[in-house]
Amino acid sequence: MMTLELLATQIREILARENAPASREQVAGLLKSALGDQAFIAAQFATEVGARKVLYEDPTLGFCIVAHEYAGAKDSGPHDHGPSWAIYGQAAGETLMRDYAFVAPGQVRETRSYLMRPGDVHVYNEGVVHSPSRVMSTRLIRIEGMNLAGVVRAECKVAEGV
Ligand SMILES: [Fe+2]
Repeated sequence: MMTLELLATQIREILARENAPASREQVAGLLKSALGDQAFIAAQFATEVGARKVLYEDPTLGFCIVAHEYAGAKDSGPHDHGPSWAIYGQAAGETLMRDYAFVAPGQVRETRSYLMRPGDVHVYNEGVVHSPSRVMSTRLIRIEGMNLAGVVRAECKVAEGV
């Protein structure tokens, strides 16, 4: 049975060894198994979550486990997470995610899109531009490399005609 404390401990063990893209894939694997545990998900969303609730912030490594409860349909523009990486985990509902590549400073073109369904996880390393869209209410659990509240994100424009 997964608990928030156990998940945090296991993430800390991985990231304390090395904070690299391969480690984040291991963290994503942990998150995926946690999302397969309905009791774990129910516990995280048992109280009011709203658009953003930090469930755990590591006092030394700085990573955060964050719950999100988004109401209704919404499109978000292409963005990165400034100096941080983030792992998206879909807990309920579906998110249409788009990935992008830079064609000029601040200008991107879409490289692929994919539907994230409950249990799906995806790592976005530093500077990787993506945009989530949803047509329904969703619940996500995300792991952030650092608490992204107040961190400036690079908003990008989709280049015309590419
Ligand atoms: Fe994002």
